[in-house]
Amino acid sequence: MKPFDVYTLFPIEPVKAKGSWLWDANGTRYLDLYGGHAVISIGHNHPHFVERLKNQLDSISFYSNSIQNSLQEKLAEKLGQVSGYPDYTLFMCNSGAEANENALKLASFVTGRKKIIAFRKAFHGRTSGAVAATDNPRIVSPFNAGHEVVFLPLNDPDAVAQALTTDIAAVIIEGIQGVGGIHVPDDSFLQFLAEKCRAAGALLILDEIQSGYGRTGKFFAHQFAGIKPDLITVAKGMGNGFPVGGVLIQPGIKPWSGMLGTTFGGNYLACAAALAVLEVIERENLMQHAADIGANWMNQLRAFTPIEQVRGRGLMIGFDLPAALTSLRNDLLFTHRIFTGEAKPNTIRLLPSLAISPTEANVLIDALEKELKEEAV
Ligand SMILES: Cc1ncc(COP(=O)(O)O)c(C=O)c1O
Repeated sequence: MKPFDVYTLFPIEPVKAKGSWLWDANGTRYLDLYGGHAVISIGHNHPHFVERLKNQLDSISFYSNSIQNSLQEKLAEKLGQVSGYPDYTLFMCNSGAEANENALKLASFVTGRKKIIAFRKAFHGRTSGAVAATDNPRIVSPFNAGHEVVFLPLNDPDAVAQALTTDIAAVIIEGIQGVGGIHVPDDSFLQFLAEKCRAAGALLILDEIQSGYGRTGKFFAHQFAGIKPDLITVAKGMGNGFPVGGVLIQPGIKPWSGMLGTTFGGNYLACAAALAVLEVIERENLMQHAADIGANWMNQLRAFTPIEQVRGRGLMIGFDLPAALTSLRNDLLFTHRIFTGEAKPNTIRLLPSLAISPTEANVLIDALEKELKEEAV
């Protein structure tokens, strides 16, 4: 048997990782400014993360959700404290798509409605409801296409005012659009959405799967707008590479036995990984660090004239390349050994570990100076 061939692969195989760096079997070192797609929050193989997981493996690694698991309570409490949502509850699952699927389901349970508003260029995952709320027809199968989803332009309050009627179950929006190319919703737009959802009796779901966990300099990107969504979905940075996701649920929404469920969600190893991440974010002051490094990086990037439209917050950054520079991402990887992310057609995305050092951030600036100078010659 072979793997089902759905990914376009770089001819590189990392065998070791530490902090912001990866190594292949030949000992070639790569700077990771992609974070395995915004997953590496506290740095590859952080010693505290490794120790917590090893200790957990030595005691108990798995049982089902039919027994007491105080680690889930510890994690929920810690997440509530670090994120600023101490009165919310936490439902744990295993991935971003699953978190959004459960949030959409919860919104539908609570409102008794089924129509969803999502936004153009949105990406919410590949399970049935999540992919239906994703603005990419290429990955929506006929089976997934039965959901009632309306796509509206981002940052267009008039479109929302028209579409957000009393038959809408939920509005789902990313804290910052990631896969779509790093598009930031205006603070005033998020405030308008929150207000209109309340008036229509619809729930507001903030997908913070890519933009959350300190990446923007606040725990959640929507906290810049000072709003409180009904449901907040998390994954990626939550486990620093260990598969874990969750839905933060506002206190007015009450569970009933069997309302949601999962075999693996909230298992001991996932809780240990997620606790380690929060402990390190707090101890190493990584949110402030992400804000500082990100602001400085964005200023440096804006000084390169061929680079267009530097967008983002903290360490969630995107910029566009003119047609003459479309090979830049490959040049960074194969000449300078720097991993970056992309968004079609011409955006480079930077999603490094929140613990990236100023010296490491400068490696990109030096590489860009070389590449863009060569371009100008
Ligand atoms: C904003 C957002 N939501 C949901 C997902 C889906 O997460 P997962 O791949 O863990 O299912 C992603 C993944 O890129 C994402 O960026």
